[in-house]
Amino acid sequence: MRKFRVGAIGCGGIFRAMHVPGWQALPGVEIVAVCDRDLDRARQVATEVRAGHVFTDYRDLVKLDLDAVDVCTPNRVHTPAVLAALESGKHVLCEKPLAVTTREVRAMGQLAEKKKRKLMTAQHQRFTSSAQAIKSWAAAGHLGPVYHARVRAMRRAWLPVAPGFIDRELSGGGPCMDIGVHALDACLWIMGFPKPVRVSGAARTNFAKGHKIPGMWGEWDRQRFSVEDFAAGFVHFENGATMTLEASWLGHQPENEDMSFQLFGLEGGVKWPSGEYAAVAGNSFVQGTIAPVRRVERPHSEEIRAFYECVTENRPSPVPWTETIKVTGILEAVYESQKRGREVAVRL
Ligand SMILES: NC(=O)c1ccc[n+]([C@@H]2O[C@H](COP(=O)([O-])OP(=O)(O)OC[C@H]3O[C@@H](n4cnc5c(N)ncnc54)[C@H](O)[C@@H]3O)[C@@H](O)[C@H]2O)c1
Repeated sequence: MRKFRVGAIGCGGIFRAMHVPGWQALPGVEIVAVCDRDLDRARQVATEVRAGHVFTDYRDLVKLDLDAVDVCTPNRVHTPAVLAALESGKHVLCEKPLAVTTREVRAMGQLAEKKKRKLMTAQHQRFTSSAQAIKSWAAAGHLGPVYHARVRAMRRAWLPVAPGFIDRELSGGGPCMDIGVHALDACLWIMGFPKPVRVSGAARTNFAKGHKIPGMWGEWDRQRFSVEDFAAGFVHFENGATMTLEASWLGHQPENEDMSFQLFGLEGGVKWPSGEYAAVAGNSFVQGTIAPVRRVERPHSEEIRAFYECVTENRPSPVPWTETIKVTGILEAVYESQKRGREVAVRL
């Protein structure tokens, strides 16, 4: 039987560490082509995954007979690579953030619809045991309508040093786009994706131009550093709900990482990823911990399986662009608000 043929664009850290094992866990799949701007890296990875085709230009890769393209380049290369893959009729899985502007997300989404192809943003946090368990607890009615959320993606000394993260031309943003996007997407998913309408935000570089806080991933080019190292936002949704959002790569806090959210609902409240919940029943406070029935060992692999199944079983994308555009809209508005010095409307 013919196997499902995948071509990969961008063969760096996330592709090798997480996507390759995810694809290789699916018996019906073969990675037949790889592309990286760095030819040596592309050749090396092609040998590792036994891909027969090696490219340095994604426009050549998308001409091949492929079922799907997996985009794992720096953020600002996502849009042209995804558009080229969709244009040539491929289904596309793309790393987060799908794009750093809603204009680009819309262009990709509309092209996917026109071409009748699947487009999925790789938001693996939705596939973690904790997020899955909270989603089903909320679906059972224990959370109720959410009136407020707190979202945090706060690292104290984990600054990714590659140019693809710290150079705005390549990344489009700092921790807000890099890790804020993870907690924000998972939180909005549990909330049922209400429509964000206004954001007041700040995005600043407090430490990354200097040496006060050492980076646990080593040194970075301080001259080239052109994104924020801290961002915060206050979001209003059309349904009246509100949200605070904080993201950092460097900062003074006791935790190495606080990747979390807390939801306040009219029926109950819950924290992710701990699963701690609280409610009032009759005359009593009730509280405890939601424990997942099924432990997910590799959420990235679950995400890749979900993409593969949506294509092969012709189901809706598990992370559709219509949801991603709300995530991007909030993050884009944080930067816009910093620039304008006032609250701004979310452009959806
Ligand atoms: N979901 C997650 O957990 C997670 C974790 C890390 C990174 N990411 C995302 O994955 C993407 C890649 O991150 P990474 O850590 O693998 O970065 P990386 O720098 O390790 O790898 C990126 C690769 O893309 C290649 N590349 C750059 N421009 C290219 C082009 N025009 N054509 C082809 N290849 C090109 C680079 O040579 C490099 O090999 C980013 O969007 C990042 O946000 C996601």
